[in-house]
Amino acid sequence: MDKFLITGGVTLQGEVRISGAKNAALPLLAAMILAETPMTLRNVPNLMDVNTLVKLIAGLGVKINYQGDTVTADASSIDNQFAPYELVKTMRASILVLGPLLARYGHAQVSLPGGCAIGSRPVDQHLKALEALGAQIEVEAGYVHAKVDGRLKGGEVIFDMVTVGGTENILMAAVLADGVTTIRNAAREPEITDLVHMLIKMGAKIDGIDTDTLVVTGVEHLNGCEYAVVADRIETGSYLAAAAMTGGCVKTTHTDPNLLEAVLEKFEEMGAEVTRGDDWIELDMQGKRPKAVSFRTLPHPDFPTDMQAQLMAVNAIGRGFATVSETIFENRFMHVPELSRMGANIQVEGNDAVVTGVEKLSAAPVMATDLRASFSLVLAALAAEGETLIDRIYHIDRGYEQIEEKLQGLGAKIKRVSS
Ligand code: UD1
Repeated sequence: MDKFLITGGVTLQGEVRISGAKNAALPLLAAMILAETPMTLRNVPNLMDVNTLVKLIAGLGVKINYQGDTVTADASSIDNQFAPYELVKTMRASILVLGPLLARYGHAQVSLPGGCAIGSRPVDQHLKALEALGAQIEVEAGYVHAKVDGRLKGGEVIFDMVTVGGTENILMAAVLADGVTTIRNAAREPEITDLVHMLIKMGAKIDGIDTDTLVVTGVEHLNGCEYAVVADRIETGSYLAAAAMTGGCVKTTHTDPNLLEAVLEKFEEMGAEVTRGDDWIELDMQGKRPKAVSFRTLPHPDFPTDMQAQLMAVNAIGRGFATVSETIFENRFMHVPELSRMGANIQVEGNDAVVTGVEKLSAAPVMATDLRASFSLVLAALAAEGETLIDRIYHIDRGYEQIEEKLQGLGAKIKRVSS
């Protein structure tokens, strides 16, 4: 199993090119199922999760080709509507094929994803929303069996909580339904906006973009198109956090400052100088130690849960103390015991963590537990004295493209070791 060996103490400097967003690429790939003519997706990050979904979609009979940052697909050849447990269990986002398969073919059989490290993460809202459009759903032996007589019917969907995947699934179903669907309490994450833009390009009719009420007027057919995946706001924030963590100056390019304003404001509160361009963001910590800042994770446009672990790591070496509240997932502090092994002072009580900054972290062997938590350990290692060995980095490979190359480009001493 691969590990990262990181020698801390380097002040990171330079430019890093941000990839397309994993969390946008996955629903966009699932949406390809809806197209009756071939289509092309560009700026696709080269990641394990993308590979998993490409494999799953190929298994449906789609002629799909993934080369460099481009995926081409011809979904006119789909010959089955089955998503097996073996693939779905490795990536929860596989459930996103349910909505488009059901909408286009009137039936689908998709494995339930099961829980994951950061919480139980049920899909009840996805299923409830599809039922509101007339789907008959049964869950049997770990599989969702969904069917509808004829076409799905437009209806009213009211989510009990803001769900990114739920909103995406129902959007991809409603675009081919008969009539108008209103989705209330819809998620407004930039990845939803990206999906809406692509669906519109394919011929869908969607109003209320960027609001929590989406109104979809179903159409009978959707065509393929060419589309480029939006920049990864979480990757952007993660590399800016690396600058804050090491007192350095990092410019992220091919990104969009409008996607992560809540995070940039926190960096400014830490004392960093943040400069925004049209498609770049630079964070200059000017050699200073950041101030610890309190924050609470909430749905977009508030502070994203996917940046919680990284900002927690920066707080760990901050001046003063801060409270971090996690309101999206019930078990997303798994990085805390690992950061503590490196000398961080963090007290957890329920979904709140109080972080009292220490002047220096120290190297220790640690273990990555989930995708974003893993990057927080990388950050801690970059700032720590000595050599840190991070185990189970397959979690990082799921979501950060070319992480060693990108960090090395900023001066970091990081290498991948196999054991
Ligand atoms: C997506 C992102 C993930 C991010 C999360 C929140 C992808 C591939 N993943 O995950 O990186 O951390 O949004 O921004 O885009 N819930 C239910 N029932 C449901 C659906 C959700 O109870 O049917 C709960 C979840 O357990 C969680 C909360 O709602 O507590 C939000 O989850 P959701 O927004 O659906 O997250 P994902 O789409 O899985």
